[in-house]
Amino acid sequence: MHILITGTSSGIGYGLGREFANQGATVWGISRRSAGDLEQKALYHHLQLDLTDYEKVRQNLPSFIKDAQAFDLVILNAGVLGEIKWMQELDVDEMKRVMEINVWANKVLLDLLFHHPGKIKQVIAMSTKASLRSSPGWGPYSVSKAALNMLMNVYANEHPKTHFNAFAPGLVDSEIQETIYQIKETEKYPTIKKLQQARYTETMPDPETAAPMLIKSMQKALDYDNGTFVDVREM
Ligand SMILES: NC(=O)c1ccc[n+]([C@@H]2O[C@H](COP(=O)([O-])OP(=O)(O)OC[C@H]3O[C@@H](n4cnc5c(N)ncnc54)[C@H](OP(=O)(O)O)[C@@H]3O)[C@@H](O)[C@H]2O)c1
Repeated sequence: MHILITGTSSGIGYGLGREFANQGATVWGISRRSAGDLEQKALYHHLQLDLTDYEKVRQNLPSFIKDAQAFDLVILNAGVLGEIKWMQELDVDEMKRVMEINVWANKVLLDLLFHHPGKIKQVIAMSTKASLRSSPGWGPYSVSKAALNMLMNVYANEHPKTHFNAFAPGLVDSEIQETIYQIKETEKYPTIKKLQQARYTETMPDPETAAPMLIKSMQKALDYDNGTFVDVREM
């Protein structure tokens, strides 16, 4: 299998990259930082790149993936949480910053990939339940992930030979969860308190533990309608 994953330097993307390479897939991973020991694996190729630097992405992506004739799976995983604040406290620049990576970087990447001569069988975009139902403080994240869900729906209509899903991975311990864990204002942001309580329990596995289950759920996603939102907890 040929797999492209964004955001492989930590968290879910790192866990998936490692598991796919262990299973014998060839993995192309992209993130700003190194993917650490993952880069020692013969089947793993890394590109250190800021995916919101669209000009550099256009310059570097084609040569990076030149040996991939086709992709079985593209996982649009790179993303940020953004500031946890009420809307009225947020600068619009912060909303834009979160949209750049959580939404527009994926559009730029997909457009380049569809120019690539090879075909793409499946695209999974990492979304969240918070894309359907927000709670106080989650504005930038929820708005961006709701837009990501619709982005997948639009691409599914325009590229019906590729199967797209926005995919909620459930809770996985990661750098995003570490940021959430450090937030003190839990009375103002009730969802934060719930996530902090879930950390270090079996409801929030580490990325390496979660990866085999996530991979199986991505295969199951092919049975769901093209362009839809799927949640691993309901599959
Ligand atoms: N963990 C959860 O419970 C959970 C739940 C629902 C959805 N998700 C989604 O899962 C995805 C992965 O998150 P995670 O929880 O694993 O968090 P994480 O550990 O913070 O991983 C985020 C990854 O995205 C990469 N990234 C961020 N900005 C980038 C940029 N401008 N260019 C290139 N790469 C960039 C980071 O790499 P660099 O910093 O090296 O660039 C990192 O590898 C996100 O889309 C998140 O919204 C996570």
